[in-house]
Amino acid sequence: MPTNRQVLLASRPEGQAKPDNFKLVSSETPALQDGQVLVRHHYLSVDPYMRGRMNDSRSYAAPQPVGEVFQGGTVGEVIESRNDAYRAGDKVVGMGGWQEYSVVDPKQPGVLRKVDDSQVPLSYYLGAVGMPGVTAWYGLTQIIQPKAGETVTATAATGAVGSTFAALAKARDCRVVGVAGGPEKCSYATEELGYDACVDYKAHGDVASMNAALKQACPDRIDGHFENVGGYILDAIMLRLNAHSRIVLCGMIAGYDGQPLPMAYPALLLTNRVKLQGFIVSEHMDLWPKALAELTGLVVSGKLRPRESISEGIASAPEALLGLLKSRNFGKQLVKLI
Ligand SMILES: NC(=O)c1ccc[n+]([C@@H]2O[C@H](COP(=O)([O-])OP(=O)(O)OC[C@H]3O[C@@H](n4cnc5c(N)ncnc54)[C@H](OP(=O)(O)O)[C@@H]3O)[C@@H](O)[C@H]2O)c1
Repeated sequence: MPTNRQVLLASRPEGQAKPDNFKLVSSETPALQDGQVLVRHHYLSVDPYMRGRMNDSRSYAAPQPVGEVFQGGTVGEVIESRNDAYRAGDKVVGMGGWQEYSVVDPKQPGVLRKVDDSQVPLSYYLGAVGMPGVTAWYGLTQIIQPKAGETVTATAATGAVGSTFAALAKARDCRVVGVAGGPEKCSYATEELGYDACVDYKAHGDVASMNAALKQACPDRIDGHFENVGGYILDAIMLRLNAHSRIVLCGMIAGYDGQPLPMAYPALLLTNRVKLQGFIVSEHMDLWPKALAELTGLVVSGKLRPRESISEGIASAPEALLGLLKSRNFGKQLVKLI
């Protein structure tokens, strides 16, 4: 059995997460028992939610245990099987964690699923045709429920969730406006992802300036907003909402290292009769097949081909997560192992 390099959570962060919160170790892969399969991981997923799991705080999911393999999504290939339903060569998506190999008992619900990489790149099963894609789908279709012609907006517009949001909203004939950091990301949003306009928040560092930029980008104001960041950008969005608009509270990455994110104008929720709803995508597994079917169709038809930020090798995983929390990724963040 192969030697397996693994990234463990070594300690819990105080404030900002740091490289020494992680530890790289090697271990021997145990021999397979009946029913198990050995998966070689091709890509590890790096996601913002991982920062929250590093804390020992009450949340919707249990904290990542210290001293154990860092949990996360993986795609790869079965290289040995003692399970009749899986053969060597099968491509699979699962929750293998930050390690090069995993031994999996596929009978446990939700741990492993076969995927077809003949038309969809394998890595996309961690992005546009995976958890982030379903997240965009759920927030748009189930919470915003847009009508054709409405204006919808998203922050972190070029990321894994935001890029999928644009394709889904364009397919529903909305005016789609993104907010992203820097001119390069904004050009990519409009030229490649289908956004009708994109506001560079780095050029608009306060509410008044963001409000003015959003006024230009959203002449009919905003009917639905998909929030990934929090802070003054959300305040500026709220100033431009229409009556009966909907806000999806998907993420608040600007506060994941513990920064407070006060909301400046909560009274606007009342005066505009706004629906504001948070959600966790893993609590809606019944809708994943419907979402994945639409997302697969968009990828296969070429309407959704978002870029990826790929770091190389297992040892690069911690820095990839720390970089994601500092906006250094450009598209879905992955770690490539082979
Ligand atoms: N509710 C759920 O079930 C669920 C599921 C998946 C994801 N999420 C949330 O969805 C959001 C997007 O996730 P993702 O996987 O698609 O990540 P992502 O957008 O690919 O990457 C994160 C992006 O957030 C932006 N960002 C980071 N720190 C920021 C800051 N301080 N201020 C403003 N922007 C900042 C950066 O983009 P810019 O350079 O453009 O600033 C960065 O590239 C996250 O908040 C995540 O927690 C929620």
